[in-house]
Amino acid sequence: MNILILGSGGREHALAWKMAQSKLTDKLYIAPGNAGTKEVGINIPINVNDFADVKKLVIEKEIDMLVVGPEVPLVDGIHDKFKNDPALNNIPVIGPERRGAMLEGSKDFAKEFMYKYNVPTAAYKSFTLENLTEGYEFLESLTAPYVLKADGLAAGKGVLIINDLELAKSELKKMVADAKFGEASSKVVIEEFLDGIELSVFVLTDGNSYVLLPEAKDYKRIGEGDSGLNTGGMGSVSPVPFATADFMQKVEDRVIKPTVEGLKTEGIDYKGFIFFGLIKVGDDPYVIEYNCRMGDPEAESVIPRIKTDLVEVFQAVGNETLENIKMEFDDRYSAAIMLVSGGYPEAYVNGKVIKGIDKLKDCIVFHAGTEIDINTNEVKTAGGRVLAVNAFGNTLDGALKLVYEKVSLIDFDGRYFRSDIGFDLKKQD
Ligand code: AMP
Ligand code: GLY
Repeated sequence: MNILILGSGGREHALAWKMAQSKLTDKLYIAPGNAGTKEVGINIPINVNDFADVKKLVIEKEIDMLVVGPEVPLVDGIHDKFKNDPALNNIPVIGPERRGAMLEGSKDFAKEFMYKYNVPTAAYKSFTLENLTEGYEFLESLTAPYVLKADGLAAGKGVLIINDLELAKSELKKMVADAKFGEASSKVVIEEFLDGIELSVFVLTDGNSYVLLPEAKDYKRIGEGDSGLNTGGMGSVSPVPFATADFMQKVEDRVIKPTVEGLKTEGIDYKGFIFFGLIKVGDDPYVIEYNCRMGDPEAESVIPRIKTDLVEVFQAVGNETLENIKMEFDDRYSAAIMLVSGGYPEAYVNGKVIKGIDKLKDCIVFHAGTEIDINTNEVKTAGGRVLAVNAFGNTLDGALKLVYEKVSLIDFDGRYFRSDIGFDLKKQD
């Protein structure tokens, strides 16, 4: 079959790399893709948020399956547009309809859903300009640190964790009254701070049953020891040693099952990934956030661990036959390290020549922000997060040792990476 993947990051390269290996795949298109996806499929330079462009491409290339990588087209309702268009409604879309995607698209919706279906999460209240004074009072009733979240999509930047009450109040005002995060912060969720260790858990669901994918831990801060500014993610490891069988059973019973059942009860036909951003407090899981897509850079450590044919699994999602699928995973440790442009997550310069990728063996290089210079044929940087390098090991230490050996062989002007990915887990494996 002919498949179209929307997106251009490391997650989409990981999906494309895996789907290209399927016997079911004829032509694989990635829109817009990057220099890495070009090695496993055909890049098409369109704007993935423009439905007319996507439709034209799907018809022209006789696409049989659409896989949506990022959240924005899902929250904008791309799945609904396919479903409601007679020319497209027989094409399976991997990624939920708009109402399902609102689990990520509105923090207030997600919190209400969790409360309704008894999914453990931090206590919260939501505020807008109309009840700002009540927002101040709610902050006064909490103890520091204060967690303020823009309701809508804010490209991972909409969460503030603040120690000082007065500062929390003035930031709340900036969010709802001065559009600090644009329309996304016209409503703000204020919630109780949870103290624990985070992990990412993923399922694929066909709206009825689900399959559990390997869990991962990502490292969001730019600096060593989890310090400095938040980024899109600097690396990930899978499996997570503290996600024991007992803990994962609690995650399934208390978080995954009520979520999948809740979606059904709400009449939301959810077909795609559900990403549970969890925090382990003591021995118990709490949901920090839902996402309606795979994680990035989690995909770059998780997808290589999937042995099952992913196209077959996606087909089962489309056909609602996921209960017949038996997933198989590589039991070894998988680590992915992000190489980023100097200056990221603040200003950085694109167009730096990347050297050393071709010679690498015993690892996988997933491209994120890269492009081919059409004049020189060189691979150049074209984004903050440039590449993710993945390697396996029988232990976490083994995987990390190998991946860092490979990372050191890649160079570009200004290259930066965190050299301590997995630092907090090493003693646990
Ligand atoms: P989110 O965008 O909701 O994932 O939040 C971004 C980050 O803020 C999370 O990865 C956590 O590190 C942190 N965070 C969010 N909510 C809470 C909370 N209730 N308690 C503690 N940390 C939180
Ligand atoms: N790694 C976190 C995310 O994809 O949102």
